[in-house]
Amino acid sequence: MNKLCLLGLVVGLASQSVMAETNATLLHNKNAFIANLMKQMTLDEKIGQLRLISIGPEMPQPQILKEIAAGRIGGTFNSITRSENRPLQDAAVAHSRLKIPMFFAYDVIHGQRTIFPISLGLAASWDMDAIGLAGRISAIEATADSLDMTFAPMVDISRDPRWGRSSEGFGEDTYLVSRIAKVMTNSFNGQHPGGADSLMPIVKHFALYGAVEGGKDYNSVDMSPTRMYQDYLPPYRASLDAGAGGVMIALNAVNGVPATANTWLLKDLLRKEWGFKGVTISDHGAIKELIRHGVARDDREAAKLAIKAGVDMSMNDKVYGEQLPALLKDGEIAQQDIDNAVREVLGAKYDMGLFADPYRRIGAAAQDPQDTYADSLLHRPQAREVARKTLVLLKNDNQTLPLKKQGTIAVVGALAKSHLDMLGSWSAAGVPNQTVTVFEGLTNAVGNKAKLIYARGANVSDDPKILEYLNFMITEVEVDPRPAQEMIDEAVKAAQQADVVVAVVGESRGMSHESASRTTLNLPGRQRDLIAALKATGKPLVLVLMNGRPLTLVKEQQQADAMLETWFPGTEGGNAVADVLFGDYNPSGKLAMSFPRSIGQLPVYYAHFGTGRPYVPGKPGNYTSQYFEETNGPLFPFGFGLSYTQFSLSDVTLSNDTLKRGGKLTASVTLKNSGKYDGETVVQLYLHDVAASISRPVKELKNFQKVMLKAGEEKVITFTLSEDDLKFYNSQLKYAAEPGVFDVMIGLDSQDVKQQSFSLL
Ligand code: NOJ
Repeated sequence: MNKLCLLGLVVGLASQSVMAETNATLLHNKNAFIANLMKQMTLDEKIGQLRLISIGPEMPQPQILKEIAAGRIGGTFNSITRSENRPLQDAAVAHSRLKIPMFFAYDVIHGQRTIFPISLGLAASWDMDAIGLAGRISAIEATADSLDMTFAPMVDISRDPRWGRSSEGFGEDTYLVSRIAKVMTNSFNGQHPGGADSLMPIVKHFALYGAVEGGKDYNSVDMSPTRMYQDYLPPYRASLDAGAGGVMIALNAVNGVPATANTWLLKDLLRKEWGFKGVTISDHGAIKELIRHGVARDDREAAKLAIKAGVDMSMNDKVYGEQLPALLKDGEIAQQDIDNAVREVLGAKYDMGLFADPYRRIGAAAQDPQDTYADSLLHRPQAREVARKTLVLLKNDNQTLPLKKQGTIAVVGALAKSHLDMLGSWSAAGVPNQTVTVFEGLTNAVGNKAKLIYARGANVSDDPKILEYLNFMITEVEVDPRPAQEMIDEAVKAAQQADVVVAVVGESRGMSHESASRTTLNLPGRQRDLIAALKATGKPLVLVLMNGRPLTLVKEQQQADAMLETWFPGTEGGNAVADVLFGDYNPSGKLAMSFPRSIGQLPVYYAHFGTGRPYVPGKPGNYTSQYFEETNGPLFPFGFGLSYTQFSLSDVTLSNDTLKRGGKLTASVTLKNSGKYDGETVVQLYLHDVAASISRPVKELKNFQKVMLKAGEEKVITFTLSEDDLKFYNSQLKYAAEPGVFDVMIGLDSQDVKQQSFSLL
């Protein structure tokens, strides 16, 4: 090395150490720290921060390490253990020029290692403490695994059960989903976003993904502004207000403009109107998809549209790296466009505490668990506790349930012994063999007090095309090759020898997933024939349903003596189901999504608008709004769920028949447990604005209380109403309460309600 080079090296090293010192002194001041760091960054380093890659077969590890060291990757997802992520962080911190730490993200939706029930099930608990517990444990386990960020909560309102991702969200109702959005966000964040066990929530999918036309995944969304503001946007806002650090942008178009290129959505609404400060992340490959959406000619235009619209990070494509430098050079985008995005990415890293300690969640190698998959690391009691609260009793004739732990019980159905399906979709690092199946749960519960006999009865699907579709990555749906009739006959034989039949039927988890839209909502395969055959034995028939969306169950409801909806109930699902079936826990879940009678009725949701010609059950139907071939309304309404005890509600008492602006009014009912069991139920309050400047839904949930009563006990349940509860977005999108009469309805589901009225002056 000549003298000049040596001098250069010394000066270079000295200036780097000065930079490092300045960085360290500024660390307490977020804006100053980031501004100072950005001053030191080259254009390539800046663009590198905008790149989020999936760890998978696409890129071998040596190349990833090289790219990180060169400052060309800002974060990764899908690498989920400390030993996987440590070398990636080393590459950034020890080998990249500016030592900007990486972050590690993952889809922790309903658990990391301990898997809780799917989100639609969690919502059915209506229990904010239980949901918060599931979120907190998810964060504790995920951060212990070195993760910094989760792509959750998923708060897309879904009113079309054909959409497979209904399973991932919290149902059809704006108020309920908004409440859960807040709880989930807080529970992921923990004490503060930078904590070692805090997982940064990235709320998704912004926006309106749940309203894809026809329930077909990735389809477009066309929606009136009032519906958007009133029904679909509030849950995202609730999560952001609670402190979600970022937003994942939806794959769909919103009124013609793909969300990923939608300046109105990402800048005008999100940043200006809502004041959001945080990072926006595209969904997988969504920037390139702008070409197929038909709004960009090529990658260059796609990158330009996305960065200009306000997409900060691009997920798993190279378009920003390949296109932004030339776009900048040619003056088609401004340095400001790039800088704004970089600032948000660095801001998120700052908030996650990664500049203070890049290894905050990775920890030291010496402290790595010997076995990341050890059962002792799971939170089994909490998983069981939460899961049993999510189960919904849909029917229980002649007190078929709870079952007695005696005699012979025939357990039928492929799902009864399926470990994989207990997990549901998006099951993060959950391990199938660590789940308790329904059969195992029943076995644990009865010990040697009762005899269990098992027959498979039917495959969940026998259709080769469906099987090929669902089994494209791993064997999601196991198939017993025996002829269908032979399996049904075997199940009938088992039923004949038993005192009661428990048939576990439903979907495989992959049927309620991303890219899993359905045109029918029947029980798939030969499961309906199986149920008919079991019914014909005359034995009491209990259907235990496992599914990730509302199904059409008109026939099954007639055939079954009892029905228990169990969703995909997670690691401890089998024990939780057994707790309910044997009455060790009295079911308290309530549906978060209406169950239609048929596909032709869709969409079926309770907060629909009235019409000029409403159908009134029991009255002549001609020229009223209805379908004439079948009973109108859902089979099981939103908010519905039975208990082993009987709850009754008194009429509603209002503290006043008028409400003054700025004032308060209370609505009370007496809830009585007139049955034989202690139990919990959910008292639900709905409002209807009788005459407003625009039509308002026939009812909207505005509050609820989950109440525990001992057998024979009664309690006055009081809700306080204020002007805020009466506000809505009018046709000018002004959010205000209009004077006039309001109906207040209180019930134990959305249909069977007691009503009173008051006026807003
Ligand atoms: C695509 C899904 O739409 C999104 O929800 C998920 O977070 C990403 N893939 C990353 O896995």
